[in-house]
Amino acid sequence: MAKVLITGGAGFIGSNLTMRLLSEGNEVTVVDDLSMGLQDNLPQQPNLTFIQQSITNSEFMSELLIDQNFDFIYLLAAVASVADSVERPIETHEINQEANLRIFETIRKHHLHPKRVIFSSSAAVYGDEPSLPKTEGSPIAPLTPYAIDKFATERFLMAYANLYQINASAVRFFNVFGPHQNPQSPYSGVLSILTQTFKTEGSFCVFGDGQQSRDFIYITDVLDALQLLAKNDLAKGQVFNVATGQTTTLLDVIKDYEEITNKRITVTYANMRQGDIRHSWANIDKLSTLGFEPHINVYEGLRRYWQYINR
Ligand code: NAD
Ligand code: UD1
Repeated sequence: MAKVLITGGAGFIGSNLTMRLLSEGNEVTVVDDLSMGLQDNLPQQPNLTFIQQSITNSEFMSELLIDQNFDFIYLLAAVASVADSVERPIETHEINQEANLRIFETIRKHHLHPKRVIFSSSAAVYGDEPSLPKTEGSPIAPLTPYAIDKFATERFLMAYANLYQINASAVRFFNVFGPHQNPQSPYSGVLSILTQTFKTEGSFCVFGDGQQSRDFIYITDVLDALQLLAKNDLAKGQVFNVATGQTTTLLDVIKDYEEITNKRITVTYANMRQGDIRHSWANIDKLSTLGFEPHINVYEGLRRYWQYINR
């Protein structure tokens, strides 16, 4: 049994990770301010401690880290929307970068030795630089405050790993989807919004022409990747793409979903979002070398997601 901290643990990826780690007998502490996450995403059970707090409260975070001396720390708390960071660059910077840096500082200053700190970076760091698919060595060309903060934080963590011997890894998630992704905000992940639209047979607005593409990865494959990395010493001080190695356009995803749900939705079009990436597609050789294999393609993932929504 390990003691685990998950920031952002009431959110989409965090709550799924919490449930997986609890089911394996670990003791989990979640810190989440519920700005996007939901307490209902989490079970009530003795091995889970939920704390509603912002990671920007550095005094609180510092005390928690020193007090609890966690074995594993997953840093998932963030304003996850690229578009939101374009609207609110300072507020999102304070959460997405500064609060995390202060966590690294507490670990350094107080000589804490977690077995692993994993920071959730993003495919957004690659921006629109045209070479595809993206390897971890591809040029970095962040287009938005979100992507800049993710890259900077990732670099800080890697520097802390090297300079102060902190066991750390960073993951560049591509587009993750599945149960618990909150569809309520216009800034929510596209497949959560689309799922909600199919559920209500409403109308869906495509920003741009719908030919933008993403490497969509189903949540259970992401959890497998995170657990693999947390336990593998070769992942220390390293950054990994977490994706499937396949890419799909938004219009193709809509077509797949129509087939799966046997429903039709109304599609409208609006201007492309500022700072939006056109094509995103990962090379996952580095992660595969450690034994990772994605099991669920986008079609099967959508089928499972739809089944969950209608459970
Ligand atoms: P999410 O919004 O569901 O989860 C983030 C959680 O952080 C939410 O529960 C939110 O309430 C919480 N949070 C936000 N600000 C906070 C603060 N100041 N203090 C404490 N908690 C705070 O998003 P997600 O999809 O689960 O993403 C998890 C992480 O993975 C994020 O760091 C995101 O940037 C990153 N990521 C996600 C994807 C994706 O496709 N979902 C892709 C790349 C990277
Ligand atoms: C997503 C994640 C981000 C992550 C990145 C990694 C969210 C909210 N965003 O950003 O955290 O770092 O992947 O690749 O989880 N779109 C529409 N209509 C809508 C909503 C979106 O057309 O109603 C379009 C967007 O303009 C974009 C695409 O769908 O072209 C994907 O959008 P979104 O789900 O917000 O993801 P990313 O911006 O790729």
